[in-house]
Amino acid sequence: MTTKEATQKEDTLIRNTTDHIQEVAKWMGVTIDPNNPHHQSHIPSFVNHRSHMSPAQKKAYETLKDQFVIPFDATQKLDYPTLFGREAPTILEIGFGMGETTAKIAHSRPEDQFIALEIYSAGVGAMLNRIDKENIKNVLLMQHDAVEVLVHMVAENSLSGVHIFFPDPWPKKRHHKRRLIQPPFVNLLVSRLKTGGYIHCATDWEEYAEQMLEVLSGHVGLQNTATDYAEKPAYRPLTKFENRGIKLGYNVHDLVFKKI
Ligand SMILES: C[S@@+](CC[C@H](N)C(=O)[O-])C[C@H]1O[C@@H](n2cnc3c(N)ncnc32)[C@H](O)[C@@H]1O
Repeated sequence: MTTKEATQKEDTLIRNTTDHIQEVAKWMGVTIDPNNPHHQSHIPSFVNHRSHMSPAQKKAYETLKDQFVIPFDATQKLDYPTLFGREAPTILEIGFGMGETTAKIAHSRPEDQFIALEIYSAGVGAMLNRIDKENIKNVLLMQHDAVEVLVHMVAENSLSGVHIFFPDPWPKKRHHKRRLIQPPFVNLLVSRLKTGGYIHCATDWEEYAEQMLEVLSGHVGLQNTATDYAEKPAYRPLTKFENRGIKLGYNVHDLVFKKI
């Protein structure tokens, strides 16, 4: 590549990233300074509160964080082969909660590797415990807002899949803007997926499922793998929380879309 081509490529990358930041900012109704990658003023899809950690979670957090939690750095792109020590399809999970599903999927898909994001320290502590006790080799964690990780640290066309299981439904209308699955965020996800890569969402909130179906179906770069809602893929286990919901009569919907 000539110097001119390299400069042009860099300019395009900067422009695309800037567009995403501005688009996400517009969606969240705030101004973000794209020239300052550390600028963090936006309405997040989560509420900041201190989560209580059990002694076991706290211990795992203190002793294992440096080994398995990738620090947020707005100036660095994630280099998957270096991080995992191998070339393999990389899946990003957003909001792993306590990590029950993450761990089961990691065991059932050893050929894939997972970068799992969660904000709450208790969840990170719990998942670090699982990684340690269950000797999980194909999961790394990040404790940071998914929007910022995607914008700054995930390279375009680099992910093989995205998992978003039971994202906060934000049921009140005035909170709907906090929902993750909205057109600008889906644009951002699609830009980070490889062609053929997938987005898998699951929710037990009927009206959010409808919103997901509408938003994902409305993206020209995505193709539904089903007519509308998908069969639950075998790799996604039923969680305790989900089983309880099913007994109470909640329907769970899976949505699986591919980047075309
Ligand atoms: C309702 S919980 C579901 C947890 C888990 N996926 C499950 O199925 O049990 C949603 C999780 O997403 C996390 N979350 C919400 N917005 C996030 C964001 N922007 N970045 C990372 N995690 C986020 C929350 O902290 C919360 O733990």
